[in-house]
Amino acid sequence: MVARMGAAGVNFLNDGFERVCADPAAASLRPRPLCLWHTLRGMLWVKTFHIVFIASWFAGLFYLPRIFVNLALVPADSPAERERLLLMARKLLRFMTLLAVPALALGLWLWLGYGIGLGPGHGWMHAKLAIVVLLIGYHHACARLLRRFETGTNHRSHRWYRWFNEVPVLLMLAAVALVVVKPF
Ligand code: HEM
Repeated sequence: MVARMGAAGVNFLNDGFERVCADPAAASLRPRPLCLWHTLRGMLWVKTFHIVFIASWFAGLFYLPRIFVNLALVPADSPAERERLLLMARKLLRFMTLLAVPALALGLWLWLGYGIGLGPGHGWMHAKLAIVVLLIGYHHACARLLRRFETGTNHRSHRWYRWFNEVPVLLMLAAVALVVVKPF
């Protein structure tokens, strides 16, 4: 079996507790137990939380524009309904921003800490990072659009928001395909 070597010479397939070291001088030393974060199991825990936080962030990226669809449909003589939807949208935006931080930080840990996708020959990782930049831009666009609803300056139709709502679907499909299929 071919060992996957990450940054710092950690053998992720070792699952356990011993460092595989390329340094011949150090190789003569008795293998020392590693802390959880330097093992395959540690990396899999980081990946688990990465996926969970990404999924939770996306729940917000899918749902917030649905609230915008409803806000765009609220009749001018229903201020109470408008306020209720605005409150929901504000809370959701705050929560999904909190979820995005660990989601991205854990991805950076997998990339820069464990060295997965690091270095030349990992075009999929660069493409995935481009998708991440677009996702952060989409998140910011949601915050700006919410401000427009708050200030009463939204001029876009509910149909426009329905199309806007499809953008994260496509970005998610592209990001997951890149990281799972790794086509280049
Ligand atoms: C700063 C942003 C991100 C970085 C640096 C990053 C990095 C990584 C890395 C290095 C892996 C491990 C890949 C492997 O084991 O082959 C991974 C796994 C994964 N990432 Fe990300 N990621 C980021 C954002 C995202 C986003 C936005 C999504 C979803 C749209 C996503 C979805 C996934 C999934 C589903 C996996 C598991 C793939 C598998 O194990 O087969 N990541 N990520």
